[in-house]
Amino acid sequence: MRFLAALVATGLLWAVAWLGAGALGWNWLFAVAIPYLALVLFVGGIVLRVIGWGRSPVPFRIPTVCGQQKSLDWIPRDPLDSPFTATETVGRMALEVLAFRSLFRGSRARLTPEKRLVIESDKWLWAGAIAFHWSLLVVLLRHLRYVTEPVPALVGWLEAIDGFFQVASPTLFVTDVVIAGALLYLLGRRVVDPRLRYISLPTDWFALLLLLSIVGSGISLRYFTKTDLVAVKQLALGLATFHPVVPDGIGTMFFVHLFLVCTLLAWFPFSKLVHMAGIFLSPTRNLANNNRARRHVNPWNPDVEVHTYEQWEDEFRDKLIAAGIDVEREG
Ligand code: HEM
Repeated sequence: MRFLAALVATGLLWAVAWLGAGALGWNWLFAVAIPYLALVLFVGGIVLRVIGWGRSPVPFRIPTVCGQQKSLDWIPRDPLDSPFTATETVGRMALEVLAFRSLFRGSRARLTPEKRLVIESDKWLWAGAIAFHWSLLVVLLRHLRYVTEPVPALVGWLEAIDGFFQVASPTLFVTDVVIAGALLYLLGRRVVDPRLRYISLPTDWFALLLLLSIVGSGISLRYFTKTDLVAVKQLALGLATFHPVVPDGIGTMFFVHLFLVCTLLAWFPFSKLVHMAGIFLSPTRNLANNNRARRHVNPWNPDVEVHTYEQWEDEFRDKLIAAGIDVEREG
C-alpha cells in the first residue's frame, strides 16, 4: 500500500506536467513560474533547516567512534576514527562525504534457516549508493552546459570521459546507465527483502521513484523523444539571468523532466534527502574527540554555588583539630 501510494503520487506528477504543459499549453507556468517557486522553496527550506540545526545545542563532544582515541603517547591511536585535531576531523568528514565510509563499514544481521544469527558485511548497499551519488554528480555537472555560456572546459572533459565508449548516436553516457542501474537496485532491494519492505515508508519509495522518473525522462529526452537543445539552453539561460523567455520547439517530455526536477527541489529540504546538507552539521562527524584533553562546559548550565574543601575546612577546623583529624591549614 505504501509503495502504491508513492507510485500514484509519482504518476500524478507525470500526468500534471503532461496535461498542463502538453495538452493545455501552459508553458509559461511550467517553464518559468514553477521553476522559480521551486527554487525559492529549495533555498529558503535549506536555509531554515541549516539555521535550525545550527541553533540546536551541542554542548559536548559526541565521541561515537570505533577507534582508539588519543591517550598516553605509547598507546597507538586511530586519527581517522577518533580524530583529535581539526585536520583529522576534516579527514574523517571528507572520507564520509566522498567515500561513504560508515556505510562501507556497515553490517546487516540475519537469521539462517537453522535460526542462527549471522552478522555480515553489506557492501552491495554501499556500492549502489556510491554508484548513484557519483553518477548524479557527473550528470549535474554535465547539465551546467545549459546554464553557462561559454561552457566551462570541465564540462567538455566530463562529456568526453563519460561518452568514452562512443556507442550509439547520440553517444551513450556511462553515467546514464550507472545511475539508472543503481536506482533500480536501490528500489529493488526494498521490494525483494521483506524486512526492508516492512520498514519502508511512502517517503522512501517516493524519493526513489521521483529520482527514477527524473533520470528516466532525461534518458528519454536524450535518446528517444529528443528536444530542441538550443531552445532549452535559451530557456535555462533566461531563467538563470532572471530574464525568462519561453522559446517554441520544446517538447512536452522536457516539461515533464523539468517539473519533476522542480518537485524534487521543492520537496528536498523537507525530506530525508536533505542529509546532503545535514552531514556537514552532524556532531558525531564534525567534532574532534578531545574530551580527555579539554574540559567542555555546558554553556547554559546555571551557576552552581560551590562549597570548596578549603571553605569546609575553615568551617570545621576547630572540631577537626579537636577530634585529632589532620587538616591542611592549622588556622
Ligand atoms: C536533479 C536534477 C536533474 C537530474 C538528476 C537530471 C538527469 C538527467 C539525465 C540522467 C539525463 C539523461 C542524459 C544525460 O545524462 O545528460 C538528462 C537529460 C536532460 N536534462 Fe536533465 N536532470 C536534471 C535537471 C535538469 C534541468 C534543471 C534541466 C533544464 C535545463 C534539464 C534538462 C535536460 C535536458 C535538455 C536533457 C536532454 C539532454 C540531451 O538531449 O543530451 N535537466 N537529465
